[in-house]
Amino acid sequence: MNFLGIDLGTSSVKIIVMDEEGKVIASLSKEYPVFYPEQGWAEQNPEDWWNATKEGIKELIEKKQINGKTIKSIGFSGQMHGLVTLDENDKVLMPAILWCDQRTGEECEYITEVVGKDKLSKYTGNKALTGFTAPKILWIKKHRQEVYSKVSHILLPKDYIRFKLTGEYATDVSDASGTLLFDVENRVWSKEMLNALKISEDLLPKCYESSQVTGSISKEAALETGLEEGTLVVGGAGDQAAGAVGTGTVESGIISVAMGTSGVVFASQKEYAVDSENRLHSFCHANDEWHVMGVMLSAASCLKWWVEAVNKGNSKTFDELLYEAEKIPAGSEGLIFLPYLMGERTPYSDPYAKGCFIGLNITHTRAHMTRAILEGVAFGLKDSLELVRNLNIPINEVRVSGGGAKSKLWRQILADIFETRIDMINSVDGPSYGAAILAAVGAGKFDSVNEACSKLIKVTESVYPNKMNIDKYERMYRVYSSLYSRLKDTFNEIS
Ligand code: XUL
Repeated sequence: MNFLGIDLGTSSVKIIVMDEEGKVIASLSKEYPVFYPEQGWAEQNPEDWWNATKEGIKELIEKKQINGKTIKSIGFSGQMHGLVTLDENDKVLMPAILWCDQRTGEECEYITEVVGKDKLSKYTGNKALTGFTAPKILWIKKHRQEVYSKVSHILLPKDYIRFKLTGEYATDVSDASGTLLFDVENRVWSKEMLNALKISEDLLPKCYESSQVTGSISKEAALETGLEEGTLVVGGAGDQAAGAVGTGTVESGIISVAMGTSGVVFASQKEYAVDSENRLHSFCHANDEWHVMGVMLSAASCLKWWVEAVNKGNSKTFDELLYEAEKIPAGSEGLIFLPYLMGERTPYSDPYAKGCFIGLNITHTRAHMTRAILEGVAFGLKDSLELVRNLNIPINEVRVSGGGAKSKLWRQILADIFETRIDMINSVDGPSYGAAILAAVGAGKFDSVNEACSKLIKVTESVYPNKMNIDKYERMYRVYSSLYSRLKDTFNEIS
């Protein structure tokens, strides 16, 4: 018996097949483009997602000789918050507006004003952010009236794939949490929000828990993919909750830090809780519980920018630059990097925040700058970790994943700045692995998500804080944390 995990990411879809023992026996990725039609906008074509996914599944089954009949169930992970609109004939009405699109500043202000900041937090557990789905709906209502008048169904990105596979309009509680239309505490669509924003619930998909079965593979999808008609499909989760399942971050005390394009600090919680100023997102977790998370918009992408765009390098250059940076003392001899290359979300929700090096002097070299980037990203992640700590969530163990976690130097810097042990785990497949685990739970292979995680996920390697660096990093962090407020007006002026 096997389980399929589909992670519909922003740059590609990753599909894995996991066996009953939790071993990944086949995997494949397929890319698709992101379009940036105007500054601050980011769109994708849902048909590109579907083509990549159906071809990917077919290829995986054929090339890796997986018998479709052995796949018992399918789970999803997906980029969150994106808006997909369908007309009454299920035709996509316009390109999907993505999580990283920043066009909805005015709509966020409007939502905060019309609902009220405190009520917004009470109804949804969150505040209005440009990335979330509700402001996107209001944007098309205002700027694409001809589209809005034809909308029959609103879906999140991964749920469009579910629709193509099963014919069901459905989503899961973790992904629904990122719409700003969801009552996260009670795990249902928020009547108050829908009334306040005049959005009909009929447009929204039915909401399920992440490991619940939402439907099964249709005859048509079976023909297109090589899967068996009737194969079960479970709710799945937003990429952060699915990634947390994939790293076993399902119990209080375990914190996951995902260092991909964005950087996420994620804490699982038995009880629903909200950060006083909603700087952390409070969402439903995929294990029937809740979680909080801080999202910094540029994490590993800061290093990628430095290596590829500034130093015009390739993967060899990555290694060379990291090797140089390792020789520089902790603290980069007074050089600080602010990682706000794409604006910021947590702890400062500010699309105008900018990246910068502060403290440059004539003795600094490229290696100092590389190290300062690694440290700046780690300080940014610490901002979110501190918010988690302020909620009295225990921090016993920090598990890192994502491209940035491959660098041992970066893991050491994180350990020194967080003053905690940093762990790596046996699975490297993150959200797609989480999606496959959810599928296995839905098919009854495990009693619960937590049981599956404790059986399948193990810590393989740990990095411990270097006591020599802790004091220096504490002092630097104090300077780092004072910089945003001092520069905020300057960032605005530049914008
Ligand atoms: C989560 C978030 C990102 C996107 C894309 O709030 O915005 O994780 O889901 O990965």
